[in-house]
Amino acid sequence: MNAPTPEKIIEVRNLVKRYGDAVVHDGLNLDVYRGEVLSIVGGSGTGKTVLLRQIVGLERPTSGTIKVFGETPATLRPAQLQALRNRWGLQFQRGALFSALSVIDNIALPMRELRALPDNLICQAALLKLQLVGLSARDADKMPSDLSGGMIKRVALARALSLEPELVFLDEPTAGLDPMASDDYVALIRELRTELGLTVVMITHDLDTLVALSDRVAVLADHKVLAAAPIAEVIKVDHPFIHEYFLGERAQRAMQALAVPPHGEA
Ligand SMILES: Nc1ncnc2c1ncn2[C@@H]1O[C@H](COP(=O)(O)OP(=O)(O)O)[C@@H](O)[C@H]1O
Ligand SMILES: [Mg+2]
Repeated sequence: MNAPTPEKIIEVRNLVKRYGDAVVHDGLNLDVYRGEVLSIVGGSGTGKTVLLRQIVGLERPTSGTIKVFGETPATLRPAQLQALRNRWGLQFQRGALFSALSVIDNIALPMRELRALPDNLICQAALLKLQLVGLSARDADKMPSDLSGGMIKRVALARALSLEPELVFLDEPTAGLDPMASDDYVALIRELRTELGLTVVMITHDLDTLVALSDRVAVLADHKVLAAAPIAEVIKVDHPFIHEYFLGERAQRAMQALAVPPHGEA
């Protein structure tokens, strides 16, 4: 039996992004398929965040095209762009939570903005999301300043999931977490991905996170996606960044984990 061809839900073609004379992307191509976890790696300042910001329509490409679910964010009117944005969740590195809002109000915010449900239902839905990310109703009224780093990431994730998206974007989701909190977060993403059938596009520096979660890895270097493939193939590409990132001593240790199937039934 032939496996069905996976549906392409993001398509980036010949993307060029410049700020004045500074070239960030120059002829970048990338595809993302439904149901996969695609990780984006690259040196600091190579344009990983700028790529995500263009995909979600927060910034316009200088030239080239980006399609998400068949739509082109850069050409949509605000109402259409908002409807498209409701199909994905974002957890960006900065601007994690609103410090003046409680945990539950942070999670409820996207639903309140949509005004599609009465508030008592929104509160119930937000509580369910809170539990989905491994927190309890006791945490609902806490303020962000009362939370640990790991809890903040979980609440931000719950908020990203509040509109039940098919697709989530995570920008350095484990940055700043200690190794244990980071492992817990990785386990959570793996679980949710299976339970909710999510497509995940994730930027990460962290090799353990990368190895544990990725179906494919896209390597950003020289203003392009140098390779987008399973890790085992990516490491064969002859490029200084790939050598340094995947084949260093620390990297080799993380890669040992590859010997254990990363999606094994745990
Ligand atoms: N709004 C902006 N104006 C000018 N330059 C920017 C802007 N946003 C990002 N850049 C530059 O684009 C490059 C890529 O940034 P970024 O995508 O944040 O890198 P990273 O790969 O570390 O996420 C950096 O050199 C950054 O300084
Ligand atoms: Mg970044």
